[in-house]
Amino acid sequence: MQEQSSGSYKNTICERVDSIETTLAHIVPEFTSNICGAIVIFIYMLTVDWRVTLWSLIAVVLGFAAFAVMMSSMPKWFPQTVVKSKILNDTAVEYINGIEVIKAFGQSKTSYGKFVKAAQEGADCFIDWMRSQNFWQNFGMASFPATLLGMLPAGVHFMMNGSLTQADMILLIILSFGVMTPLIIAFGYTDDISMISIIMGEVADIMDKEDLKRPEKSKGLPADNSIELSDVHFAYKEKEILHGVNMQIKPGTINALVGPSGSGKSTIAKLIASLWDVNSGSIRIGNTDLRDISLSDMGKYIAYVSQENYLFNLSVMDNIRIGNSSATDEEVMNAAKQCGCHDFIMQLENGYQTICGGAGGHLSGGERQRIAIARAMLKNAPIVILDEATSYTDPESEAVIQSALSRLIQGKTVLMIAHRLSTVSDCDCIYVIQDGNVAAAGTHEELLRDCMLYKNMWNAHISVKDNEEVPA
Ligand SMILES: Nc1ncnc2c1ncn2[C@@H]1O[C@H](COP(=O)(O)OP(=O)(O)OP(=O)(O)O)[C@@H](O)[C@H]1O
Ligand SMILES: [Mg+2]
Repeated sequence: MQEQSSGSYKNTICERVDSIETTLAHIVPEFTSNICGAIVIFIYMLTVDWRVTLWSLIAVVLGFAAFAVMMSSMPKWFPQTVVKSKILNDTAVEYINGIEVIKAFGQSKTSYGKFVKAAQEGADCFIDWMRSQNFWQNFGMASFPATLLGMLPAGVHFMMNGSLTQADMILLIILSFGVMTPLIIAFGYTDDISMISIIMGEVADIMDKEDLKRPEKSKGLPADNSIELSDVHFAYKEKEILHGVNMQIKPGTINALVGPSGSGKSTIAKLIASLWDVNSGSIRIGNTDLRDISLSDMGKYIAYVSQENYLFNLSVMDNIRIGNSSATDEEVMNAAKQCGCHDFIMQLENGYQTICGGAGGHLSGGERQRIAIARAMLKNAPIVILDEATSYTDPESEAVIQSALSRLIQGKTVLMIAHRLSTVSDCDCIYVIQDGNVAAAGTHEELLRDCMLYKNMWNAHISVKDNEEVPA
C-alpha cells in the first residue's frame, strides 16, 4: 500500500471517482431514451419503405467503422494519459508539501522544472492522442448524419421505376435525420463507458489490497497485559526487516527498545500496535494471538504514540478527544494539563477550539508530541507504546512530560523507544535491537556489563550529554 504515493491515492479516490459521477447519473436515462427513440423511428421508416431505409444505413456503417478505429486505439492512449496525469498529481503534491525543503536547499528551479516537465508531458500525451484521432473523429462525425448518401440515389431510382412516391421519399428523408442525431448523442457516451470501466478497475485495485486478517468478533481476549513475540519475521516488501524477534514482556513492567537507527524498533512497535501483520511467528498479548482479536477490541488494549504524530484537521480539543470519544471537555483539559499542553494551547488564537491544520502543520514538533501523549493518556489503555515520545522536547518540557508519562504508565505495560538512553535507564527491561534481531536484553546495569553495543551507545550518549553541560 505504501509503494504508491499519497497523491495517486488522492487522485483515484477523490478526482477520478468524482469524475464518473455525472456519467453514472445521466447515462441510463440519456442512453436509453436516445437509443429507444432512434429504434422506434427506424422501425417506422422500415414500414414506410424498407429498401430506402436500409440504404440509409451506409452512413451508419461508415460512421461506425470510423469510431471503431478510434476505439481500437483507446487502450493504447488512455492508460498513458492516466499515468501522465498521476505523475503530474504526484509532482504537484510533492512540490507543495516539500516547498520548505526546496527553498532551504535552493532547489526551486529544479523542482519547478520537474513540475513543468510533468505538466508538459501530460499535455503532450493528450494532444498527441487527440491529433491521432482527428481524422477519424471528423470522418465519423461527418458520415454519421449523411444518411442521404445512400438514400438519395436509391430513392431516386425507386421513384423513377414507380415503386416509391415523392411524399414517402420526403417523409423518409426527414425521419432519417431523427434517427442519426439521437444515435450520435448516445455514442458520445461510449468514451465515458470505457472510462468508467478503467476507473472502476483502479478502485478495485485499491479495494483488493490485502487487509489485516482480523476477525469481526474476537476469538479470545487477552488474559493480562503481557506481550510476547515469538520468532517474528516481517518484511514491508521483499526485504526482510525483522529476522526472528523473540521478546517476553511481563505485565505491568516498563520496557524499552533501543538500538541504531533503522534497526527495526518502530517496526516492532507497529506490529504490536496491529498496524501490520507478521509474516511468520506470532505476537500475543495476554496469551492471545493478535490475529484472534478484532480491531475494535484491539483498540481498547493499546495506546500507541507513533514517531510521526499525526494531528487531524480538527480542533485541538477534538484531536485529544480521539483518545476517548466519550471524554468530557474537563477530562480533555485535564489530560492536556498533565502533559504540559494546557499553557501553549491557551495561547493559541482560539484556545482549545483552534483548528490544528492539515497534519497539525501550525504546531511545533514538540507541541504535536505533547498533544499525542495527552491523547494516549485520555485513552487509558492497559498497554502503552511510545515511539520516541519525547524526541523533540526541550529539557524543561521533557521533565513535565516525563512526570506525565510516569502517571500515564502507572500499573500498565509500557514499551518505549528512545534514542536518549538516560530516559530509559530505569526501565525494568531494555531490549537492544540490532539489524532486526534482539541483540541483548536486561536491565541497564546488566547490559552495561554484558552488551558491547549498549555500552558503546551509553558512552556515546554520556559524552554528548557532557558536551551539552560544559559550555564551549
Ligand atoms: N513503510 C515502510 N516500507 C518499507 N520499508 C520500511 C517502511 N518503514 C520502515 N522501513 C524500513 O525498515 C527498516 C526499519 O525501520 P524502523 O522504522 O523500524 O527503524 P527504527 O529502528 O525505528 O529507526 P529510527 O531509530 O530511525 O526510528 C528501515 O530499514 C526502514 O527503511
Ligand atoms: Mg523509529
